Amino acid sequence: MELIYKGAEAEIYKAELLGLPIIIKRRIKKSYRNPSLDIRLRRGRTRKEARLMRRALLGGVPVPAILDVWNDSLMVEYIEGSKLANSLGSSLMTEFGRIACKLHSSGIAHNDLTPYNALVTPDDKICLIDFGLAAYTHKIEDYAVDLYVLKRSLISLTDEWETLWKSFLRGYKSCQELFGKVIKRLVVVEARGRYK
Ligand SMILES: Nc1ncnc2c1ncn2[C@@H]1O[C@H](COP(=O)(O)OP(=O)(O)O)[C@@H](O)[C@H]1O
Ligand SMILES: [Mg+2]
Repeated sequence: MELIYKGAEAEIYKAELLGLPIIIKRRIKKSYRNPSLDIRLRRGRTRKEARLMRRALLGGVPVPAILDVWNDSLMVEYIEGSKLANSLGSSLMTEFGRIACKLHSSGIAHNDLTPYNALVTPDDKICLIDFGLAAYTHKIEDYAVDLYVLKRSLISLTDEWETLWKSFLRGYKSCQELFGKVIKRLVVVEARGRYK
């Protein structure tokens, strides 16, 4: 098992199962928490992440296949490819918009919707990852915050952000019902961001 990433909340290992590459996401123990609470929290969050991924998949959102869930560990299919952040382009952003629409239409906010949490496969398909902060919600505000986070991360990534943002919106527009409401709310969220 090879450690390929260490974040504040989780360690990501790459391993093999029956000759196939897999990923194990293991939530890190926090020594400042009461030990039994810590175990419960890590197990609960791991299960929740898996539940949200299954729900997203049912809504047509491409996510890695879940292979196993136990205690603080989530075992998923390894997705070959690069982060969307490293291969930004208009048609991929439109696809990402369609995926965000499907996610929101399934009643899920990702809560960290950045091009670092989407992988692009060699055949140019996008796979959404990292449901660690995601939540079930029907609040337009939560969907608008997803879009706000994405827009901010595009702005910080590239001077070409405006074209990419427009491409994203073209895909997100497939959410006919949500689109108008979410965009209207985004204006409010952005105004608040400016005065913070
Ligand atoms: N299924 C996967 N296939 C390939 N790489 C993955 C997969 N899941 C995670 N990774 C890699 O590990 C990194 C961190 O995973 P992520 O779930 O985003 O953890 P964190 O919650 O700590 O951000 C990702 O940016 C990606 O590079
Ligand atoms: Mg991440």
